[in-house]
Order: sequence, then structure tokens, then C-alpha cells
Amino acid sequence: MSTPKNRTVEARILRVNHGGEHGAIRIYRAQIALARLRAPDLLPFLTRTLAHEREHLERFRALMPTRAAKPCRLMWIWSVGGVALGGVTGVLGRKAILVCTEAVERTVHRHLDDQLAWLGERDAEMAATIHDIQQQELGHLRYAEKERGAPNGLTALLDATICIAVEALIWLSTRGDSLRLARTLRAAA
Ligand SMILES: [Fe+2]
Ligand SMILES: [Fe+2]
Repeated sequence: MSTPKNRTVEARILRVNHGGEHGAIRIYRAQIALARLRAPDLLPFLTRTLAHEREHLERFRALMPTRAAKPCRLMWIWSVGGVALGGVTGVLGRKAILVCTEAVERTVHRHLDDQLAWLGERDAEMAATIHDIQQQELGHLRYAEKERGAPNGLTALLDATICIAVEALIWLSTRGDSLRLARTLRAAA
């Protein structure tokens, strides 16, 4: 396990957010490749969303140097996990793609909420960036909720599995720091 002692909370937040955006890019890229056959009507949404996630990655990266933050060293975990999530849901088809978007974006939204509550006035520039990005993530979430249709047992199972997988990826890529960070954010917010 890495120790977060020598890293600021801001640096830990940026590291996990930057890694998560890397994962989101892999998910949407894999889904776009498969949606050409399985769900062509989703291509405009997926392409637009991929462009947003690339922008988010750059924006989090840009905040790193002045906050002594470094990208996560285990980025390959996000690459593998992102391609796996995007690939499996892409093969399963339209509904699975949308359930994946909803589960991923809901998880992201919750993490960003906790970060914003902690940041408050501590780092106005970072809080403004996260708030801005959160609005776009919310757009992705709302689209998926609107388009996915009525939930059923299978979609509920898929949703729960994806939520667990995303939290596991966050935990693995931060070598356990994500749980400590969540506790820190909630305790001090
Ligand atoms: Fe994003
Ligand atoms: Fe997103």
C-alpha cells in the first residue's frame, strides 16, 4: 500500500480523477468501436462524450504541476479495466452500453460531490474545474438514464457489477488510497 502521508489531499484527488478520466476514455473508445455494429444510434452521444472525457483528462493534468501531483503509476489498470468494461458492454449492446454509462457516471458524480464538499474555499481554481467537469458528467448520466429504458433484473445486476468494478479499479489504481481519501474528505468536509 502506498502511504498518502507525503501527498496533499489535492494531489491525491487529482491523481485519482486523472486516472478515472483515462479509464473513461478507454471505456468510450471500446464502446464506439462496437457500437458501430451493435448500437449505431448511440455513436453521436458516445463520440461527444469521448471528446468531453479527453478534455477532462487534460484539465486535471493541467492542475497537477502547481499542486505537486503526479499521474497514477498504475495507469495500465485503468487501460485494462476500461477496455474490459467498454468491450463487454459494447458486445452486449445498446442497453448494456447505457447501463454502463449510467453506473460509471453516477460513481464519478458521487466522488466529485465529496471532493467539492471538501475543497470548498480551500482551492478555488480546482473546485471551479471540478464543478465544471461535474456538470458535463451529469449530462452523460442524464442522457443514459433517459435512453436506457425501464430497468429489469439483468440491468440491475449489470449496474451493480459495474459499480463494484469501478470502485475496485479506483482502489487498485490508487493502491488502496481511495478509501482513505474518501474517509479524509468526509471527515473534514
Ligand atoms: Fe470525465
Ligand atoms: Fe463522463
